[in-house]
Amino acid sequence: MRGYFITFEGIEGSGKTTQIKLLVDYLHKRQLPYLTTREPGGTAIAEAIRKILLDPLCSEMLPETELLLYCASRAQHTGELILPALKAGKVVISDRYYDSTYAYQGAARALNYEVIDQLTAFATFNTTPDLTVLLDLPAEVGLGRIKDRNLDRLEQESISFHQKVRAQYLFIAKKHASRYLVLDAEKEADEIHQQIVQALKI
Ligand code: TMP
Repeated sequence: MRGYFITFEGIEGSGKTTQIKLLVDYLHKRQLPYLTTREPGGTAIAEAIRKILLDPLCSEMLPETELLLYCASRAQHTGELILPALKAGKVVISDRYYDSTYAYQGAARALNYEVIDQLTAFATFNTTPDLTVLLDLPAEVGLGRIKDRNLDRLEQESISFHQKVRAQYLFIAKKHASRYLVLDAEKEADEIHQQIVQALKI
């Protein structure tokens, strides 16, 4: 039996971490087997790639290099962790997956979508989430929430970069409406959590 694959997407400061925590508490209480993970990262090799990707000192990274590294991290993460967990019947929750690549490298970095299609199919072994939760909010609000942190290489990008990311997420959500749940990330965390629980098909 295949498990159930949930991904969370959204711009910086959209509250993914809080919602994943609430969802984990919910699954734990119901004694459902689950695995939480994140992209880029999730395995030792993918976490090493994450360090390079997010390091502000890597400011010379070309968009092409960036795309390939996100996909390299995803291939390792999917093959080593996600697919075995799904095969074992677990609920897998990933903080970001390939829709991030379409939003950040496709829309914001303006890389070719056909190249991204091919790399995504390759790096995911054609794996698709069962449910994707998009926590949507204006870029100014999201960036305002994280302004006191040490910002990583992507978080340091301009407001217009993050506006492009948000717009692309909303476009993807419309295109793949059957697997998408779009929620207003400015609402109270508990209210958002209830909406997520109602959308689960487990
Ligand atoms: P986060 O774990 O704090 O969300 O950081 C991951 C950063 O990497 C975030 O800025 C989004 C970005 N990202 C991409 O640009 N492309 C991708 O494919 C993924 C998974 C993340």
